[in-house]
Amino acid sequence: MRSAPLTLLLSAFLCAAGCSDSGDGDGGETTGSGGATGGTTTSGGSTTGSGATTGSGGGATTGSGGGATTGSGDPTSATSGATSGSGGGATTGSGTGGEGAGGSDGTGGGASARVPAASASTLREAGEKANPPILIGAAISGGGLGNNDYKRVAAAEHNYVTAENEMKWDALEPSAGNFSWGAADNIVNWARQNNMKVKGHTLVWHSQLPNWMSSMTGKANVEAAMRRHITQVMGHFKDRLDHWDVVNEAVQTDSDTGVGNPRMRPTVFYNQIGESYIDLAFQIAREQDPKAKLYYNDYSIDARNAKVDFVYNMIKGMVDRGVPIDGVGFQMHIGPPNNEATGADVAANLKRFTDLGLEVLISEMDINRCGGVVTAEEQLTYYHDIVAACFKEPKCTAITFWGINDGRSWLNSWSGALCNGQSSQSLLFNDQYGKKETYNRVMNALLGK
Ligand code: G3I
Repeated sequence: MRSAPLTLLLSAFLCAAGCSDSGDGDGGETTGSGGATGGTTTSGGSTTGSGATTGSGGGATTGSGGGATTGSGDPTSATSGATSGSGGGATTGSGTGGEGAGGSDGTGGGASARVPAASASTLREAGEKANPPILIGAAISGGGLGNNDYKRVAAAEHNYVTAENEMKWDALEPSAGNFSWGAADNIVNWARQNNMKVKGHTLVWHSQLPNWMSSMTGKANVEAAMRRHITQVMGHFKDRLDHWDVVNEAVQTDSDTGVGNPRMRPTVFYNQIGESYIDLAFQIAREQDPKAKLYYNDYSIDARNAKVDFVYNMIKGMVDRGVPIDGVGFQMHIGPPNNEATGADVAANLKRFTDLGLEVLISEMDINRCGGVVTAEEQLTYYHDIVAACFKEPKCTAITFWGINDGRSWLNSWSGALCNGQSSQSLLFNDQYGKKETYNRVMNALLGK
């Protein structure tokens, strides 16, 4: 039998003596480089986590190192603060901290593990009590808000809202330069009344684009229209929204599962401006709001496939060029018509992007059971393991489910989803708004079980 390495024994001793799983920023060993900006510098997060600022390296168990311990403010701010240091914390405690490389994953980088709540009676509460907190979101539709059960469940279980359709280009700017805010304002105002944050979805996308825009020609014309749209929309919501999907689904493959010949999608933006439209959209958005979180969002980048490799290279290029992007949304539509991905796939992909210094989000999760492609047991495993993969990554700042209850899922009537009007059974609540076993598995993952 091999004996335990000295570093592990030392780590066990140090942790018995002082490492905390309550995230008090103790940080374990002292030879790492630590994250100078982690933990103590965020406005919404913790002010007590000192691990990152004192430059502690490995050795900690969980919650030490990168700060954010008791902060209850904006979870995304807390997280970005917690993770901006290098070399803080360790997930399993490697003892001496080596060269400050940090955790068991070897990445360093502030808080290395999110600490779950001891208990929670709603998903929202589990997210708010986690350390650092994580936003629990849902796609909300104007139609849904006409139903009292829908509103009750949506507000009780979530603290983050994405308008399912009401903030898309065709809804907000149906004719050139004429904006229509009513449906979007209703959702944003309802969310704020219920202390929920809102992510704007989505500024630049090829779908749900009015004809006048999708048929436009001329680089200067398209640039001007894109600038006007981003400027007007962000300006209208400026004091109410600080998270935006800036560019959505710019990449396509031969199959919607992310397989085969990844390439830039030939949209009016790409065709008229070229690939630089993506940089430009983010630059315009940043001009509008210096503090907003700006995200790229896409589907079928959850599995290990050609599409995620292509998107990774695209995003890395943006980061290298200094384009103001804060994070990447993994839509997480699992099952027909999109890909299937295991928890391990998702964890590996999230890490690639956080290693670029970005936040990651699960932005549109559902798991379609139509056609029997995904079995009931597989669905439960996917829900648990994928949510756990995000939860374990402190830079994964939100998990949004694409709808509230099965009866209202977009999949039920989407060609390619194999549902043909039947329920996709894809969400956490049934038609009567009762909790399903999928809900229990998600709750377990949020509680670290
Ligand atoms: O508003 C019209 C209505 O006037 C008309 O009578 C009716 C007849 O079909 O259509 C209505 O529009 C529908 C719209 O949803 C609002 O209900 C469209 O047909 C329908 O195509 C549209 O589907 C939406 C889809 O995006 C469009 O691409 C889904 O609800 C919405 O869930 C889905 O969301 C997208 C995300 O934004 C981006 N990622 C993928 C995700 C799923 O496709």
